[in-house]
Amino acid sequence: MAREWWRDAVFYEIYVRSFADSDGDGVGDLAGITGRLPYLHELGVDAIWLTPFYPSPGVDHGYDVSDYVDVDPMFGTLDDFDALAAAAHQLGIRVIVDIVPNHTSDRHPWFTGDRSRYVTVPSANGVPNNWPSNWGGSAWTLDEERGHYYLHLFAPQQPDLDWHCSAVRSDFEDILRFWLDRGVDGFRIDVAHGLVKDATLADEPEPLPAVRLSSDWRRAIDQPEVHDVYRDWHRLAAAYPGDRVLVGEVVFSDPRRVAPYLRPDELHLAFNFSLVFQPWDADAIRDSIDASLAALPIVTWVLENHDVERIATRFGPREARAAALLLLALPGPVFLYEGQELGLPEVDLPDAARQDPIFHRTHGERVGRDGCRVPLPWTRDLPTRSWLPQPPGWGELSVEAQSSDGTSMLSLYRHAIALRPHGSFSWRDAPRGVLAFDRDGLTCVVNVSGDELPVGEVVLASEEIRTTLPAGAAAWIRA
Ligand code: NOJ
Repeated sequence: MAREWWRDAVFYEIYVRSFADSDGDGVGDLAGITGRLPYLHELGVDAIWLTPFYPSPGVDHGYDVSDYVDVDPMFGTLDDFDALAAAAHQLGIRVIVDIVPNHTSDRHPWFTGDRSRYVTVPSANGVPNNWPSNWGGSAWTLDEERGHYYLHLFAPQQPDLDWHCSAVRSDFEDILRFWLDRGVDGFRIDVAHGLVKDATLADEPEPLPAVRLSSDWRRAIDQPEVHDVYRDWHRLAAAYPGDRVLVGEVVFSDPRRVAPYLRPDELHLAFNFSLVFQPWDADAIRDSIDASLAALPIVTWVLENHDVERIATRFGPREARAAALLLLALPGPVFLYEGQELGLPEVDLPDAARQDPIFHRTHGERVGRDGCRVPLPWTRDLPTRSWLPQPPGWGELSVEAQSSDGTSMLSLYRHAIALRPHGSFSWRDAPRGVLAFDRDGLTCVVNVSGDELPVGEVVLASEEIRTTLPAGAAAWIRA
């Protein structure tokens, strides 16, 4: 049997609002993506992941869905989606869409209606338990009129569905079929570890601080029955030709808690966020790679997404280039986030421009995620409208500015994707502060913080190097 396409794919995450705007309203849209597919083809990615583009009040920018089987007019129409999928497939680019099954929008007819599909508790006995919302405050909101509390692991406008309810399960199977029938190559599953809650609604053992994405909760998430859902979805997807893929957003600080989601009859892939949480430190990075490889049957590699700080800021601009060569030399599927290939930094937006509910719910204590969501600069001259303001100098980072510059970050990504090594992975002995490993015929050397070291025949380097590799640089060397 041929190896499934996703085992070694480069996925590219498109945050739809911020990718490409075809009608000049300052918000990206589906037609904008279709128009930029040749760019993605030239970059060399195998698949795109589209963040939610379904009708939504937009409290969490699409992660609050009010209709799972349509397109928000802000982004286009179902015909635009079909045109995008067809054009992508023509270029050999697969398309996966985001499915948000943990919660809906509070404007979804299931919630404005009888709420039988949600986790609600009569209000007589007060707040049901000590579960916190991921974004500050309690996970329960009192609806006085209806006389109940309803659960929301995120914003109050994102009520959690009750996955013990059989109607929820069958509705979502219909939703998956709707998109599979339209030709999607798979799904990215939002909060995949969170769907099923402890049916007794028992307290978390210790009062938990609200944590960002890495979560060590025990009762509110990660319940055994969630695996039945993925067994059903696995069977459902397998009935379609072409190796449709299920990618779970399964967030635990310990990769061993992710492993059960990747059993052969469950999810095909799960994001491995361990590198997202590492500092630019050789030991920390190596330990995180080793822990992931030891714990998981297939490891995905991620440095950025629409929820975390950009690496050009987190690691530094030079280090972000070195990190690109590390990332694209690791064994297994890689997920890139739009703009990572341009080396975009995190933008420090004025408070008045910030839109993320995290910023507002924590009264500014956490700045939130707007800084990594500023629309992509395509041209040196920036558009007049942009839903988050593009900072001065942004045009110099544009695709137009970088395309013809052989030394740009964009050129580095294009080359690295084209030359990406395959085959088995093994560490090499390396001096302190340096990471070195072999893949077929290539050695990847990342000088994180070590002494300058001599290197052999360079195939690709993160910066111009002569005979030695300084700290903050990386190179692929002919083995
Ligand atoms: C994870 C998504 O990546 C994030 O953007 C969203 O806010 C939450 N899930 C809630 O849906």
